[in-house]
Amino acid sequence: MFSKFVKTLLAVTAVISLMSTPTFAKTFKLAAGDGPGSSQEATALAFKSALEKLSGGKHSVTLFLNSQLGSEQDTVNDAAIGVLDMTTIAAPNLVPFSPTAGILTLPYVIQSLEEAETLTQGDFGNELRDTTINDAGVRVLTWGYGGFRRLTNSKQPVTSVADLEGLVIRVPKNEILLETYKSWGLSPTPMAWSEVFAALQTKVVDGQENPYSTIYSMKFNEVQKYVTNLRYNFSVEPILVSESVFQSLSEADQKILLEAGRKATAASAAFLRESEERIQANLEKLGMEIHEPENNEAEFIERATKVVWPQFYDSIGGVEKLNATLEILGRDPV
Ligand code: MLT
Repeated sequence: MFSKFVKTLLAVTAVISLMSTPTFAKTFKLAAGDGPGSSQEATALAFKSALEKLSGGKHSVTLFLNSQLGSEQDTVNDAAIGVLDMTTIAAPNLVPFSPTAGILTLPYVIQSLEEAETLTQGDFGNELRDTTINDAGVRVLTWGYGGFRRLTNSKQPVTSVADLEGLVIRVPKNEILLETYKSWGLSPTPMAWSEVFAALQTKVVDGQENPYSTIYSMKFNEVQKYVTNLRYNFSVEPILVSESVFQSLSEADQKILLEAGRKATAASAAFLRESEERIQANLEKLGMEIHEPENNEAEFIERATKVVWPQFYDSIGGVEKLNATLEILGRDPV
């Protein structure tokens, strides 16, 4: 009688342990805020294809574009509590969950794709990945790259800080970005990404800011006329996996996910290099007017770095963290 009970118990335990370290096929749900044609889509498809190949077809990904599974910040939360497998988002939407990731969104710190790659792919990026696991319960699998966040609006050409007067600009719910616009004299409107197209269409806000591939994929050209080539924020767009989902996988499957993530990082940089100018030209053909900030953006830079940086030293890990970052990028400390 006892041995029958033990045998049953052992069988049940074996089934449970098989389920928690799956050797069976899994289709991961991957949410994305942006639509078809975006850098998020390109990166996610590269990840899916690498995962399918590396796992010999055992694992796959179903991609849910256009915030179908909720706003970007909601999807980080869902992944953190394990009800969603994966999400790809813009870094500003990660910062509320992991303040040290704010270093990636501090204005004018990252000044090119190459600098974004340098920061995210070495020890610095590994440290950020580990902090994000602890702070937010999500793990960076891929460092995606969207390009600079360009300002768009429906009312007037903007080339100087003074030209911003009178514009209502939506920004993500991220204190660093909000304070940056305040340093330029505006009262920006924080809003979830999933609500932005409707807000632009109904003129609840006059403008927003995002990379070219995002503007194009979201069809913002239908509701926005003017673009300003600001370079204040280079959009890092990671693919995140729920840490609890990741830990439920076998070691072999974890390795496959990490390798697929690395391949998607390379593919994301290649997509940006290949597509950014082409997409900008397409948007011009579709009627958008593109403007360069005057004096190489000097006044935007001066205000944002002087006023905004000191406000966030504590949250990013101290002024030493900023100086270490600037040193990696070959620039002078503050
Ligand atoms: C945002 O503005 O909330 C994000 O940049 C949206 C995106 O990821 O494209």
